[in-house]
Amino acid sequence: MRVFMIKSITGFSKLSKSKKIDWIVDTYFSNAEEAKGILKQYWNTNNNLQQLHDEFIENTITNYYLPLGVAPNFLINDTLYTIPMAIEESSVVAAASKAAKFWLERGGFKTEVISTTKIGQVHFIYKGDFDKLNKFFNQVKSRLIDDTEAITKNMTKRGGGILEIELRNKTSDIDNYYQLHTSFETLDAMGANFINSCLEQFAKTFKQEALSFDLFSEEEKQIEIVMSILSNYVPDCLVRAEVSCNVEDLSENATISGEAFANKFIQAVQIAEVEPYRAVTHNKGIMNGIDAVVLATGNDFRAVEAGVHAYASRHGKYSSLTHAKVENGIFTFWMEIPLALGTVGGLTGLHPLVKLALELLHKPSAKELMQIVAVAGLAQNFAALRSLTTTGIQEGHMKMHLMNILNQFEANNTEKEILTKYFKKNTVTHNAVIEALNKLRVSNEN
Ligand code: HMG
Repeated sequence: MRVFMIKSITGFSKLSKSKKIDWIVDTYFSNAEEAKGILKQYWNTNNNLQQLHDEFIENTITNYYLPLGVAPNFLINDTLYTIPMAIEESSVVAAASKAAKFWLERGGFKTEVISTTKIGQVHFIYKGDFDKLNKFFNQVKSRLIDDTEAITKNMTKRGGGILEIELRNKTSDIDNYYQLHTSFETLDAMGANFINSCLEQFAKTFKQEALSFDLFSEEEKQIEIVMSILSNYVPDCLVRAEVSCNVEDLSENATISGEAFANKFIQAVQIAEVEPYRAVTHNKGIMNGIDAVVLATGNDFRAVEAGVHAYASRHGKYSSLTHAKVENGIFTFWMEIPLALGTVGGLTGLHPLVKLALELLHKPSAKELMQIVAVAGLAQNFAALRSLTTTGIQEGHMKMHLMNILNQFEANNTEKEILTKYFKKNTVTHNAVIEALNKLRVSNEN
């Protein structure tokens, strides 16, 4: 068993960046200088840019790179897009690109924003008569909205703001538990700060006004606010993405007919609809596309992930996000998912690469970005299912993963060139790559 004799530290957050690094490398690394060198290697040479990144989060010691790739040829509602994707996993960008190219020749992707409502809740405890609480709520409701005016003024001018506040009785779940369940329209902003600020003001007003509500007893006047926070579950901030074509047009070569392809593809989707073990992997493949675009455009992928997976379980069992059918000789593949995204605020105006990504996407509104992100997810799922039900996933995935294996064994450029050519005709497996590399090195020595 390894025993670590590491002391905790007080005041770490107050140290300068260089002192933080000194403490880290001296405390945790056998070769402090080497560790420091690695951290510094990833600093940007432009001090202002580095400082910008340092200040995104707390206790920053360096940058953590993710590759930013692009997938061209996405035809979405008759507009062509090249989609930026920030992701570390090989074959995802290639798969998206391949699906985009496939559907480009078959009419492209069709999308539609179904709704854009977001939710926030004030969770509180009230010990008393519900009718009185309801009366109080109805009396104080307009005051709740008035008191947030300073926060909502600009959003309201643009056409958004608070849509509805509801009092929800949750006492059947937890004794004395109620909510102010509120819906918002936040337009091009993801809206987290806006929603949370409104909710915190509601909580303040609600608690304060209760103290002077005549019908309440002394105990009833003491409303306890537990917390005020937006919900990342946004089933009413929904977008649909779809592709369709004649079944026979699905076939690209003689190895499989359009009909056979469609049948197998639909079976694969149906399995993910009924079998949670498969659905999780199926949806993970969708999130490969979604997260990569969400990250590249400076949005919060954790929020999106949490909301999407909750939506995938909305009928009480985790299930596929995508669906497929053939009707009257037409193959249709589609998905509806909740996506709360922003194209203003947050990182969108700060991170130079996010600004670049948004410009690449024709500076989309939040609604347009919802559609682009949903398409990236649908395309990814199409590519994955297409591989899974035809060649198997490993063929394409390992082909793309080849470079990672070669890098792991420090292959030089000549070795990479020779082996890339070799593996165009041979199956890539981890062992096959090592064997071929060793063989090449031995033959070079002789
Ligand atoms: P291929 O047919 O061997 O590729 O497919 P190709 O060399 O014939 O090229 C065709 C097109 O694919 C290219 O057109 C590109 O669009 C794209 P072109 O640019 O030549 O006009 N393409 C590439 N784009 C960029 N860089 C590349 C590249 N290669 C091809 N190097 C491919 C190869 C990997 C695309 C295919 O096999 C595929 O789509 N595989 C699926 C891969 C996948 O889904 N990966 C995700 C990771 S696996 C996973 O985590 C999810 C999963 O578990 C989910 C699930 O179970 O549902 C699978």
